Amino acid sequence: MKKTLKEVVFSGVQPTGNLHLGNYLGAIKNFVDLQKKMECIYCVVDLHAITSFQKPSELNKSILETTAGFIACGLDFKKSIIFNQSSVSGHSELAWIFNCVARVGWMNRMTQFKEKAGQNKENASVGLYVYPNLMAADILLYKATHVPVGDDQKQHLELARDIAQKFNNDFNSDNFFPIPKPLIQKKISRVMSLRDGKKKMSKSEESDYSRINLNDTADDIKKKIKKAKTDSLPIPEKLEDLKNRPEANNLLNIYSSITNSSLEKTLNDMNGKEFSKFKDSLSDALIAEICPVGKKIKDLNKDKNYLIKTLKEGSDKASKISHENMRQIKNIVGFI
Ligand code: TRP
Repeated sequence: MKKTLKEVVFSGVQPTGNLHLGNYLGAIKNFVDLQKKMECIYCVVDLHAITSFQKPSELNKSILETTAGFIACGLDFKKSIIFNQSSVSGHSELAWIFNCVARVGWMNRMTQFKEKAGQNKENASVGLYVYPNLMAADILLYKATHVPVGDDQKQHLELARDIAQKFNNDFNSDNFFPIPKPLIQKKISRVMSLRDGKKKMSKSEESDYSRINLNDTADDIKKKIKKAKTDSLPIPEKLEDLKNRPEANNLLNIYSSITNSSLEKTLNDMNGKEFSKFKDSLSDALIAEICPVGKKIKDLNKDKNYLIKTLKEGSDKASKISHENMRQIKNIVGFI
């Protein structure tokens, strides 16, 4: 008889210090909604972070800051499991097993590796190459059934599905691992740079004017939105008229997402307006939502011990599940 699987959500965010609007609208806000409906596990993926070199003192700080960001945005560590990846050894153990399940041909198709390694492929870390196997381990260690991911991680999730399937097949363990499903947000899946509407908003872009950080002041936000790139046309009436206007599309999407309305409704309310007028409304909406989060992050960052204790609580809960699942996995593989 086919067992019905318990629904479990898993997702991870890399500890990159300052969280920005892209992390918030593209991921964490959605995590907060999901925790009301399902059992959720949210992980600060510090093992993924070291696939490119991190200064230890910076990494340490970033892990705590990302945890503060999670809590400030409304993730509830009593309801959901919140922890950092390196504190649960099962992630690395299962990643090794998956290194032996995944095929070199599969890895060679991963576009993110090609983008990140760039011209200098020979000098990229081996960890960066097998990064997707670790991500599959994160998800399947908890037998997660649903994974909220942005567009850019879809290919990695497909790989996790292939690994689950191959493991179940190779070891004659039908349905041992669930085949995890993506949860793609309908509203906004990508927040783009304020300087270039074709590039994702990211911490690594040099200009701070390209992003809204969650700890920006009201003044910062106003300045950045004022400077944000647009075009010379007014706001259109129809969705299709946004097609070749990436910057306009991005700002209108951000506004819709932050005000919890659809892009259609935003166009309905704003069409015909000049961007300078619209930008005032956008700044106000951003300041109302982001500044309280930023203040909370700053307060939490002052209490390092509290953050460490919170992570430890989460790790204990995660370890329990991981331990039992690793026991079963080792047994299936034939380890003693
Ligand atoms: N690779 C993801 C990213 O960069 C982060 C991540 C690691 C993740 N493990 C995960 C996301 C497991 C979802 C599930 O955004």
